[in-house]
Amino acid sequence: MFKYMPSLLLLFNLFSLLFASPSTKAQSLVYGSPSSVGLLSAPFKDLEKNVSAYMIAADYGSASYHVVHPLYPGATVLSVDSVGHDSTIVSHFAVGQSKKYADVNGTLLSETEWIDTKTDTIYDMASLTKMFTSIVAMQQLDSGGIRLNATVSTYLPDFAAPPAVNGKEDVTILQLFTHTSGFDADPVPGLWIGIGSSWDTYDERKAAVISSPLLHTPGTAYLYSDLNFMTMQFVLEKVTGLPLDILIEERFTGPLGMKDTWFNRGNRQLPPGLLERVAVTEYQIAALGDVEPQREQPVWGTVHDENAWSLNGVAGHAGMYSTAGDLAIFCQMILNNGTYNGVQILEPSTVDLIFHDYNGARFPGNNHGLGFELNQYYWSGPMQSLQTAGHTGYTGTTMAIDRR
Ligand SMILES: *[C@@H]1O[C@H](CO)[C@@H](O)[C@H](O)[C@H]1NC(C)=O
Ligand SMILES: *[C@@H]1O[C@H](CO)[C@@H](O)[C@H](O)[C@H]1NC(C)=O
Ligand SMILES: *[C@@H]1O[C@H](CO)[C@@H](O)[C@H](O)[C@H]1NC(C)=O
Ligand SMILES: *[C@@H]1O[C@H](CO)[C@@H](O)[C@H](O)[C@H]1NC(C)=O
Repeated sequence: MFKYMPSLLLLFNLFSLLFASPSTKAQSLVYGSPSSVGLLSAPFKDLEKNVSAYMIAADYGSASYHVVHPLYPGATVLSVDSVGHDSTIVSHFAVGQSKKYADVNGTLLSETEWIDTKTDTIYDMASLTKMFTSIVAMQQLDSGGIRLNATVSTYLPDFAAPPAVNGKEDVTILQLFTHTSGFDADPVPGLWIGIGSSWDTYDERKAAVISSPLLHTPGTAYLYSDLNFMTMQFVLEKVTGLPLDILIEERFTGPLGMKDTWFNRGNRQLPPGLLERVAVTEYQIAALGDVEPQREQPVWGTVHDENAWSLNGVAGHAGMYSTAGDLAIFCQMILNNGTYNGVQILEPSTVDLIFHDYNGARFPGNNHGLGFELNQYYWSGPMQSLQTAGHTGYTGTTMAIDRR
C-alpha cells in the first residue's frame, strides 16, 4: 500500500503543514508578523479560514471517500518566511481537536473528553520519518561511513544472500534514497502478520526485511517503498553501531534542541501529561480488522504504521513523533545549508543533493533528491518547483521547503 498519497488522508487523522522559503542570512527562527517581513497578512488569515473549512462535513471527493465527512478533526500549521534577514515564523496556528471521536464511524465523544489541537501538538510523523533517517544517512556520506554508489551488500552481506533475485546484489545506497532499488512497496506479508507464529522475535522480522525480494531490476523503476528506508536503517545501525533512535537524537535532533521529537521505543503506553499532547490517529482494528496489531484503541501514542510497530516502534520509514515547531527547525537547517543556530549538521554540498534531481530524466514526474521528493503539486501547490523539496506522511503530515 502506498503510504504517502493525500487521497488516503483518514477521517481520524490530523494534518500538519510547513512552508518555508529561503534566505542568504537565515540563521535561527523568530516569530514576527507577516508585515514585519513585508508580506500581506490577508493570505495568512485566508489560510486559517481555508484549513478550518475542511473540518466542515462535505463530500471532498476521493479525499473523503466520496461521502460526506470532515476531512480531519484538527490541524496545526506553521509557515516560515526567510526572504530577507532572520527567518520569521509568520503564521503558526492550530484549529479543531486532536481527540474527538468515540468510534470508527465518527460518533463524537462528549465534548468534555475532546482535546483541542495546540500549536505544539505532537504528531505521529509517519513517512516524514524517512526525512529524519535521510539526514543521519547524509551525515554518514559526509564522514565516509557510507558511499552513495556503494552497494547495500557492502554493509549488509545478508542483503544479497541466496536466493537474491533480479540483481539484488547491485542495489546501491543512492537507490534506497530515491526509491529506485526495485523493492515492492511494503514487506509481504506485513511484519506484524507473523507475530506469534513465524516472526516471534525482532531479529526474525529484521531478517525478513533484509531478505525481501526485489520486484524490479535495480534502477529500472521508481516505486515508493518503505523497505528502502528500513534497509537504510539497518545499514546505518551497522556502520555506526548505534540504534537509529539514538543516532537521530545524538547527532541531529538533540544538538538542534528539537525536544518534542522522539521515537516511542517499545511501543509503550505514554504517561498522562505526555499522552494528551499527542494527536490520536485511528480506530485501526475496527477499520482494518483483527489482523491488525492488538493494542488499545484508538491508536494513540504508539506508532500507527504496523511495520514500524513490529520493529519495536523504531524504524527508518516510520515511528518519529514531532511538532510543527521542531519541523520548522529541521527545515531551517536545510535552508541554512546544513547549520542551525551555530550547530552544523550537514556539509552544504550534501544539502545540495537534497535538491538534485536524480530521477526526473528516467522517471518523468517522479523528481527526487536524496530522501526528499521534488517538484510535486500534491504537497506544495503553487510553490511546486525543482528547488522545492518535501514529503507527506500517511497520518496527514506534510513538510515543504522552497529553496528559491
Ligand atoms: C545554500 O546553497 C545554495 C546553493 O549552493 C546557495 O544558492 C544559497 O545561497 C545557500 N544559502 C545559504 C543560506 O547560505
Ligand atoms: C481552500 O482554498 C483552495 C485554493 O484557493 C480552494 O480551491 C478550496 O476550495 C478551499 N477549500 C475550502 C474548504 O475552503
Ligand atoms: C460502524 O458502521 C458499520 C457499518 O454501518 C457497522 O457495521 C459497524 O458495526 C459500526 N462500528 C461501530 C464501532 O459503531
Ligand atoms: C554515482 O554514480 C552516478 C552514475 O551512476 C554518477 O553520476 C555520480 O557522480 C556518482 N556519485 C558519486 C558520489 O560517486
